[in-house]
Amino acid sequence: MKTDSFRGRDWITDLEYTKEELETILNVAFDLKRKFAVGEPHELLKSKTLFMIFYNQSLRTRNSFEAGMTQLGGHAHFLDPSKIYSPALVGMEKAYSTERVSDVARTLSRMGHGIAIRCYGEPVEWVYGKADYMIREFAHWASIPVINMEDDIYHPCQGMADIMTMMEKLGDLRGKKFVMSWAYSPSVEKPLAVPHSAISVASKFGMNIVLAHPKGLELDDNVLDAVRENVRKYGGSFEISNDMAEAFQGADVVYPKAWTSKWNIPPFSPKPDLEKTQQLFDANKHWICDSSMMRNAKPDAVYMHCLPCDRGFEVTDEVIDGPQSVVFDQAENRLHVQKAIMALTMR
Ligand code: CP
Repeated sequence: MKTDSFRGRDWITDLEYTKEELETILNVAFDLKRKFAVGEPHELLKSKTLFMIFYNQSLRTRNSFEAGMTQLGGHAHFLDPSKIYSPALVGMEKAYSTERVSDVARTLSRMGHGIAIRCYGEPVEWVYGKADYMIREFAHWASIPVINMEDDIYHPCQGMADIMTMMEKLGDLRGKKFVMSWAYSPSVEKPLAVPHSAISVASKFGMNIVLAHPKGLELDDNVLDAVRENVRKYGGSFEISNDMAEAFQGADVVYPKAWTSKWNIPPFSPKPDLEKTQQLFDANKHWICDSSMMRNAKPDAVYMHCLPCDRGFEVTDEVIDGPQSVVFDQAENRLHVQKAIMALTMR
């Protein structure tokens, strides 16, 4: 168990933390979950402040961070970029409506103990990697930890909640088959962050990972290479399939959700072409997780989704509200893993 490497550190991607460090976060998260369950006080961040900047909507992330800080004895401020001077990168500034990221980061560093940011899609003109770059720019200038609440590449808090949930449901994850699958949604405005973090965390725990998607919906090669490297180091396996039913065969866990096509956003295409992605999505409406699709997996397979889900498209009510679904355990575990991350980095 690693204890001496967290204080003051940024949390931008799980890939920058060792397996042992991820295990420490989970260990603390399980401890905090038990304390939460029995009402045992755990004010590890008493009187400390987290600043949360949300460029996008959120139910789970905002409320789990805000409730988490309260339970740790501190406070979380919700900052709407349109109601502050919207933090902007050099070259994206507009007089009096924006403020340079370096100035925002240094100002907030003088007043509190952590800065958390959610940004992807429209606020960065769908330029893949630009939101991650902005969060790293915050981290460069801030003297307090910067936490990624989902950018256009990573959703590391979701990845940690997902692995915690799998451990609770399956025990030892080594050799268990985890299928991260694309599923149809009428909306193409879905970042790639959740599947990236789900498979990158799982690849540190010896799982047999299958990534399933129609052609044209490939993930980031850098993340896939990191997954392959983890599999070489920690065991398990990694395969890619273009057939949802085939991928589901014998699965212990299935996690079907939509993500956009990287090929139709910069830098992979000259400008965002969400209409082209819409056509690709519409050609794959049969990628839905219904009861007949679930029958390909093991009878006691676990169904996962980070939420919000597009009911009737990504998944039927019967599956998501059925006995195999663990989606609300995943949502709750956001609270516990984020409290662990904050307690370790912001203490
Ligand atoms: N899963 C997740 O990040 O949910 P929110 O978009 O509601 O925060």
